[in-house]
This record gives sequence, structure tokens and C-alpha cells, in this order.
Amino acid sequence: MILIQFTGLSGSGKTTLAQNVRHLLIENGYKAEIVDGDVYRKTICKDLGFSKEDRCENVRRLFNVGRNFVAEDTITLMSVINPYESLRNELRTHEFVRTVFLDCSINNLIKRDPKGLYKKALLPEDDLNRIKNFTGISDVFETPEKADLVLKTDLETVSFSTNKLYDFIIDNLKKEL
Ligand code: ADX
Repeated sequence: MILIQFTGLSGSGKTTLAQNVRHLLIENGYKAEIVDGDVYRKTICKDLGFSKEDRCENVRRLFNVGRNFVAEDTITLMSVINPYESLRNELRTHEFVRTVFLDCSINNLIKRDPKGLYKKALLPEDDLNRIKNFTGISDVFETPEKADLVLKTDLETVSFSTNKLYDFIIDNLKKEL
């Protein structure tokens, strides 16, 4: 079985890709679930903010949710920014984990900005609406050095990236047999 740990900036397409791939997997008879940071930050991770400590705790909790799905033979898509190389590498030590980097340039994200978060992160320091510690702007995103798959989400179409990820998952499942 397989758990995909996504890593990528806010707006890089993690949720969209996870949803598309899940549909495709289910259509083809596989069990698949998404563990999404935006969703769990409203429930079991509600107490957590965006310090390094809290982000790591967030990813660890979501990984624990994810591994329960894996134990039930479910392909699991963990959709989180997951910005730290050392934590990603720690999770990679589990043989069922694959790392997928959604590579999208920060300039494109600032331009697209569907949630308006980059705009708020870029406000002047004294502005009360400014979002502090925003990944890629005022907080670190460590580029993954050992991703198993890189999807260039600002150059590829959504359907191209979706198919690439789907094929990657199926290939990896076949290798397990
Ligand atoms: S992680 O760093 O702990 O992996 P996670 O994926 O759960 O992050 O949450 C990121 C989402 O929280 C973003 O997509 C965005 O909607 C929201 N968010 C709010 N504040 C921040 C911030 N300071 N940095 C990054 N994302 C933020």
C-alpha cells in the first residue's frame, strides 16, 4: 500500500490534484482517501498555528491519520505544505511513503492567489491584516532534494499532472506485488 506525502506551497495545487487522483483511483476500483491540512486544521489540528513546532506536529498528526487508512489497504494522499526536509525524510523511512513535490514558482502563486493569502502576506509589516510567517514569503519552504516525483504545476495542465500522479501510484503499487 502507499501513502503520498505531498509537499508544496499554498496554492500549488495539492488539494485539486489529490481530489482528481482520488476520483480516478476510485473509478478504477481502488480505495483512496485524502488527508488535507486545510480540513484537519479545523478539527484535530485546530490548536495548531504555523510555528515550526506546530507545523511539524500538524504533519505528524495527519501522518497518523494517514497510516490508519494505509492499514486498511487504502491509498492515502496527504495534502499539506510539509515544508521541512528533515520531517519529510523521517516519514520517508516508512516503506509505504512516497514524496511528491508540487513545484510551482512563487511569482505564479502570487499572481494567481485564489484565496488572497499571498496578498495579505505581502502587506506592510504594520498592517493589521498581514499574515505573518507565510510559507514562501516570510517563512521557510525547504526545496525537497529527494522527491520521488516532481510535478511542475505551473507548466503542466491539471489533467497532465493528474495522469502523471495516477500512473506513478499504479506503478508503485505494481512494484509491491
Ligand atoms: S503545514 O505547514 O503545517 O504543512 P498546512 O498544509 O497544514 O501547512 O496548512 C496550510 C494552509 O493554511 C494554507 O494552504 C493556507 O490556506 C493556510 N495558512 C494560513 N496561514 C498560513 C501561513 N502562515 N503559512 C502557510 N499557510 C497558511
